[in-house]
Amino acid sequence: MRMTVIGTGYVGVVHAATLADLGHEVLGADIDEERISALAAGIPPVYEPGLRELLQRTVASGRLRFTTDMARAARFAPVHFVCVGTPQLPGSKSADLRSVEAVVDALAPHLAPGDLIVGKSTVPVGTAARLAERLRRTAPGAGIAWNPEFLREGFAVRDSASPERIVVGVASGHDEAVLREVYAPMLRDGVPFFRTDPNTAELVKVASNSFLATKISFINAMAEVCDAAGADVLTLAEAVGADPRIGPRFLQPGLGFGGSCFPKDIRGFMARAEELGVGSAVAFLQEVDDINTRQRTRTVELARGLVGGAFDGTNVAVLGAAFKPDSDDVRDSPALAVSRAIRHEGARVRVHDPEALDNARGLAPELQYTLDVPKACEEADLVLHLTPWPEYQAIDPALLAAQVRRPTVVDARHALDAAMWRRAGWSLHAPGRPQPEE
Ligand code: UDX
Repeated sequence: MRMTVIGTGYVGVVHAATLADLGHEVLGADIDEERISALAAGIPPVYEPGLRELLQRTVASGRLRFTTDMARAARFAPVHFVCVGTPQLPGSKSADLRSVEAVVDALAPHLAPGDLIVGKSTVPVGTAARLAERLRRTAPGAGIAWNPEFLREGFAVRDSASPERIVVGVASGHDEAVLREVYAPMLRDGVPFFRTDPNTAELVKVASNSFLATKISFINAMAEVCDAAGADVLTLAEAVGADPRIGPRFLQPGLGFGGSCFPKDIRGFMARAEELGVGSAVAFLQEVDDINTRQRTRTVELARGLVGGAFDGTNVAVLGAAFKPDSDDVRDSPALAVSRAIRHEGARVRVHDPEALDNARGLAPELQYTLDVPKACEEADLVLHLTPWPEYQAIDPALLAAQVRRPTVVDARHALDAAMWRRAGWSLHAPGRPQPEE
C-alpha cells in the first residue's frame, strides 16, 4: 500500500519507518527542509534507541522517501497519517491545533473521494468531528479517522512495531477496512484491534495518559505521607503493586512525570472537559498535576536544607537533565526544573546528562553542563540524582566521594544502591524513605 505520514517529528518519523518496515511504500512530509534532507540521508531528528538503524534500513530499501512538497504528498497516496504536534497553547491549558488544521487544509484541495486522513496527534475530543465538517466543504467524499499512538519515548521503535493495541475511530466500514489493511501484518500477529467512533478513539488516548499520570501522582502522594509517618514508600509501592488489580507499573515514586505528553495531555483534557460542561468530572486531574509539581518543590526544599538553608555560594552537581532516561527530551523535564530553581536561588549548578545536553543548553543556558560525571561533581556541596540513567547506577561512590566537597546525595529517583553509597561514606537522602540514624 502507498501512504504518507505528514509531520516527521518524534511520532511521525517512527510511524513512517515502521510502516515502511511492514512493507508499505511511505512518503514522509514536513515543512522543515533541513529535517527532511537529514531524514533522506537516514539521520533521525531525535535520539531514540533503534531508530537510526530502522530509518537507514527503510530508506535504503526505497520504501521510505521524504518530501517538503505538500501537494506531491497529497497526490502520492490515498491514506495520509497526520503526526504533527499539538503543544499546550502558551498561557492556556488547551492544546494548539493549528498545525493539525494546517495539514488538513493543505491536503484538502488535492484529495479524491474515498481518500482518508488519519489523525495520530493527541487532540481534544471532538476534533475529528470538527475536521470532518470542514472536509465536507473542502474535499467532498474524503474521510477522516482517528488512530491514536501510545508510544513511549525510549521504547518508541519497539512500541510502534509491537503495539499493545490498535485503536481506530472511523466513520465508515470503508475507512475501517483501509486501516485494517495498513496494519494487516500486526493484526495477523494478534494485536488487539478496537474499532470505534472518532470521539471515543480521541478519548482513549487522553484517558490512558490521565490514568497513568494519576497512578504516578498517587504513589508520590504516598511518598509525602511516608515522609511524615516515617514509613518506606518503596516497600509500600511494591506491596501495593503486588495486587494484580493494581499492578506494579507506573507506581515508581520519585520526581514525578514530565515530557511532552502527560503534563500537556492532562491539562488539555481539563480544558476540554470544561468546554463540554463536565469540568468537575476530571477536576481531580488538577490535584494530580499539583502533586506532580510539588515533587519538584519538595526536592528543592530538601536540597536547600542539606546545604544549610541557602544555596548562595554552594556548588550543586546534577545527574540527569532529560525528563527520563533513554531520551534526549528536556520538555517539561523535572530534572531541569529543579536545576533551574536551585540556580535561581544562587547555587552554581553543573549538570551532567549523556544525551540531552544540547537540548538542555537551549532551554536553560544559565546552567553549566558537562559530559563528565566526576567533573560535574568537582567540589560539589551536594549531588542530586534526578534522571535515572543506568550509567549512574554504575558509578563507584567511593571514587566520586573524592571529587566532592561534601559527600551528600539526594536520590530523587530511588535508583542508586543506597546501602553501597552509604558504605562509601555518603549521606544519601531519598524522599519517601526513612533516613537511617547517622
Ligand atoms: C507517555 C505514555 O507512556 C505514552 O503511552 C504516551 O504515548 C506518551 O506519554 P512518555 O512521555 O514517553 O510516554 O514517557 P513514560 O515512560 O510514560 O514516562 C512519563 C513520565 O513519568 C516520565 O517523566 C517518567 O520519569 C515518569 N514516571 C513514569 C514516574 O515518575 N513513575 C513511574 O512509575 C513511571
